Amino acid sequence: MTLPIKITPTLNSKISSVDFDNIPFGQVFSDHMFTADYIDGVWKNCEIKQLGHLSVHPGNLAWHYGQSIFEGMKASITNDGVPLLLRPEKHIERLNNSARRMCMPEFPEETFIEAIEKLVWMDRAWIPSKKGSALYIRPLMMAMDSALGVRPSDSYKLLIFTLPVGPYYNKPVSLLAQDEYVRAADGGVGEAKTAGNYAASLYPARLAKEKGYDQVMWMDAKEFRYIQEVGTMNIFFVIDGKVITPKAGGTILKGITRDCAITILRDEGYEVEERLLDIAEIIEAHKNGTLQEIFGTGTAAVISNVYKFAHKGVDYEIDVDQFKVSPFLKTYIEALRAGEKADKFGWLSHLGEGVLA
Ligand code: COI
Repeated sequence: MTLPIKITPTLNSKISSVDFDNIPFGQVFSDHMFTADYIDGVWKNCEIKQLGHLSVHPGNLAWHYGQSIFEGMKASITNDGVPLLLRPEKHIERLNNSARRMCMPEFPEETFIEAIEKLVWMDRAWIPSKKGSALYIRPLMMAMDSALGVRPSDSYKLLIFTLPVGPYYNKPVSLLAQDEYVRAADGGVGEAKTAGNYAASLYPARLAKEKGYDQVMWMDAKEFRYIQEVGTMNIFFVIDGKVITPKAGGTILKGITRDCAITILRDEGYEVEERLLDIAEIIEAHKNGTLQEIFGTGTAAVISNVYKFAHKGVDYEIDVDQFKVSPFLKTYIEALRAGEKADKFGWLSHLGEGVLA
């Protein structure tokens, strides 16, 4: 049984003020948001209403000790105007995994999916139709107790809001392999999509930018030897026709686009390995000419090419014009999202008027 959702459509849509040909990532918010409260051990007060500010006490536990988790997913629209969601059930599964790790309450899966379906349907006019653009959906759960003891909060809020977005990266990126700072260690929270992981990445990312690199390539926390991820995306390498990505063993985010990429590529006959990936192997492949591609996968990043990485003061460049796997994947996922490709894995939900019933 799903929880009841009260719906109050806004009377003040902001959509006419949006330039859909020029949308910066993460800055334009659509009209509505979903909110729910966890009070006395149950989720309640599910509501879709006009997006607005929250009133939060200065002693809010999420602000002080970081009980804050989120998701990133996207809605797209077919050429004949049907809104589509891609694998929403994987996002609630991951949100609830993050919740368990951060000592937060799980949210009921069916209500989560119903809330997103209703919200996206109500704001369907905000879904950009341009290839590479989408309606980004941001579910966020945060502690709501006001108290300064270090303990799990008793009350929480779940918010879901949406933003029309263009590409996160609109050109290939360069990465600096970290050999000082770490994103995640075994036993830590690297696999949880929690705010603190992103906060901890900001300073090393700033240092990388000052040196001229777009992002950090995170390495394992013991030896700075095994590649983990990029922070904004999971990472893939193509060496001699074989696709290799670091194994999701607790320190990297289990990306849903990562999983789509692995599934699609295996289905197309590619050999895909998920395993420990020593940076020395990548450097060796670069030296002997077998390193063919490096690209990232993520909800926001979709499929983003890497044209250069640096390790211990040496730059290794790669010609993105020769990439084949990455453009294939990007075209595949974009076509799937536009409803132009058969949904052979059953990943898409098609939304219609009925979702408001
Ligand atoms: C996403 O891809 O949805 C993320 O949460 C990553 C962030 C860089 C926007």
